Amino acid sequence: MTKKHVLIGVCGGVSAYKACDLVSKLSKLDYEIKVMMTENATKFVPPLIFESLSHNSVEVDLFDPNNQDPITHITLAHWADCVVLVPATANVIAKVVHGLADDLLTSTFLACTCKKIICPAMNTHMYENQVTQDNLARARQLGYQVFEPVVGHLACDDTGKGKLPDVQDIVEVINQAFAMPLMLKGKKVLITAGPTQEPLDPVRFLSNHSSGKQGYAIGEAAYQMGAQVTIVSGPTSLKASQGIQVIPVQTAQEMFEAVKENYQSADFIIMAAAVADYRPEVVAENKIKKSDENLTIHMVKNPDILAYVGEHKTHQIICGFAMETQDLDENAKAKCIKKNCDILIGNNLFTKGAGFQGDTNVVSLVTQESIQHWPKQTKAELGKKILQAMIEIEKRQ
Ligand code: C5P
Repeated sequence: MTKKHVLIGVCGGVSAYKACDLVSKLSKLDYEIKVMMTENATKFVPPLIFESLSHNSVEVDLFDPNNQDPITHITLAHWADCVVLVPATANVIAKVVHGLADDLLTSTFLACTCKKIICPAMNTHMYENQVTQDNLARARQLGYQVFEPVVGHLACDDTGKGKLPDVQDIVEVINQAFAMPLMLKGKKVLITAGPTQEPLDPVRFLSNHSSGKQGYAIGEAAYQMGAQVTIVSGPTSLKASQGIQVIPVQTAQEMFEAVKENYQSADFIIMAAAVADYRPEVVAENKIKKSDENLTIHMVKNPDILAYVGEHKTHQIICGFAMETQDLDENAKAKCIKKNCDILIGNNLFTKGAGFQGDTNVVSLVTQESIQHWPKQTKAELGKKILQAMIEIEKRQ
């Protein structure tokens, strides 16, 4: 098997020395490594170290008279399957998110169409400066993966966020990037996640045990695969990666409105939210007082968001979820057909390792024609597999 090509861009920060360890570790895995450096980086670490560790020449100068190739930056960009800036300095981050290309490293980065990972490391005040944060937000918008620095005692003696993460963790991020190629680049993915809360009065609501974990896991997988991701999220404690757009909602009606605004431009729609089927007809203006009588609440139906999207579908590939407590296969298949889904993920609440709150799920993948029973797996792994199944369906259309 041919080795995957990883291009490491080393910028001029103190932690440039850690990039040596990274190149050493990656070279021992199934990767071929090339290194490019800024002029400033060579003041911290001589290129020869990287040449020795990568067994390849190191590129620094766009106009190196000794270089036979007049367009090294384009050749390198074509060669790379993944480019990683380690450490990424505030200066280089600012340049690459604004399209500046005034040296070999930034020109190559601009010419790369592969997966781009940025590992910022710098003084904590430089990192927290709004300008740097705005540039990182732009980087995320552009689809670059930002692997955030950690909090620690920095070389400048300040303590705070800005330290390069453990080199082994950067290796893992690169491994992950190859485990999830950019299969959804240029695609829009819309996800509903979490529970809805249906208010009864100013202090009470009706809801369910959904944690949102499965929907968010699908969102993260789609983001890693290069998609533009929107999660319409009911109340949850989860945080999505910064490049993911989260539209927070409380009620089914609010979720419906947000989905109606976003579903037409989506290519893939995954409805993982546990939407309340009914809401109290009247929301009391004041707290409902306890009395000696029983309380009867009259409930009215909520809109079925998935059914609406299924009915109005044009080009979208749609995945619904069905949590059942009995006759899973029959119910899931009937639901898939009724709601005009391409895929329906069915799970049984009573199966060990399945359902709300936990980090694993046991599901059946149901289409209008077939049923596959999948073994227990993490919600993250399942997120990836659901998207892969949807991509396969899209290819067949
Ligand atoms: O019919 P049932 O509620 O079991 O269907 C579950 C699927 O429908 C899930 O994908 C859920 O997100 C979606 N749903 C919805 N709107 C509702 C109820 C369920 O989108 N009001």
